[in-house]
Amino acid sequence: SRNVIIDCDPGIDDSLALLLALKSPELNVIGITTVCGNVPTHIGAENALKVLALADRLDIPVYTGANRPLAVPYTSAQDTHGTDGLGNSHLPAVTNVHAMQDAVAFIERTLSEDPTVTVIALGPLTNIAQVLQRDAALFDQVDQFILMGGNYKSHGNCSPVAEYNFWCDPDAAKAVFDLMPVPIKMVGLDVTRKIVLTPSLLEYIKAINPAMGGFIEKITRFYFDFHWEYERVIGCVINDPLAVAVVINPAILAGFDAYTTVVATDDVARGQSMVDDHDFWHRPKNSQVMTQVDVVAFWRLFLTRVAGATEP
Ligand code: BDR
Ligand code: CA
Repeated sequence: SRNVIIDCDPGIDDSLALLLALKSPELNVIGITTVCGNVPTHIGAENALKVLALADRLDIPVYTGANRPLAVPYTSAQDTHGTDGLGNSHLPAVTNVHAMQDAVAFIERTLSEDPTVTVIALGPLTNIAQVLQRDAALFDQVDQFILMGGNYKSHGNCSPVAEYNFWCDPDAAKAVFDLMPVPIKMVGLDVTRKIVLTPSLLEYIKAINPAMGGFIEKITRFYFDFHWEYERVIGCVINDPLAVAVVINPAILAGFDAYTTVVATDDVARGQSMVDDHDFWHRPKNSQVMTQVDVVAFWRLFLTRVAGATEP
């Protein structure tokens, strides 16, 4: 199995992504780092511990990271994820294990000791950008770098053109595309919007695994309401698990290679991902832009791993 670091901002869909990773034997999660995003980094770390407790994996270390973006003021997504980041479920806090400080130092140390680790980023890219700005060569040998963020042809979710993780810290997102020495697998809204946790899927999870179904129902109820109110979607889009799923089974996603950058200026285009699909700029192709998703294969993986469904 492959060693992975998950950098995240849990977050409802981050929590589901963590569960998928923890329940997949192909992945060995060696550390979880949190960044300010959906919620401030210390709340994200508390939520990561709640997920680890549920999965009985409190042996995995959790580190808090950046508590503000590189340059712009911090805007959380507590309107979408709840003030507690888990849909205002107010689950009991884990008190016997605590998050440690300095996610950036943890990532640096791990990459120097275990240079072929896989890094999955599910939140704003502040921590990752800080590591790259200090020593980009640390990422030279990583097996893969995957991020959930950005959008190619699909519209944004924070503005007409920008996705939240890029919008929240546009300078970090740009720095990651500028500095990452390996191709970035970009799992953006084009593909994640197709992953909708519907009420019937939730009922199915509850029927086959009441404990897990109950947890997912508690954290997604608020998210369901938000999706209905603002997007007239029945159920909720879960973005982040797809970026974990593609590490387990790369065939779930397909796309193309291109040069990508991010608009860092704080104007109407803030956080927009710019994919040079016509090679106007003749720059090295630094990204793999995901555009197609096998939705059935994703759910088969998620339901067997997280809910314990048996393969048909
Ligand atoms: C991304 O932003 C966050 O709200 C989600 O956790 C996901 O990582 C989607 O735009
Ligand atoms: Ca996230």
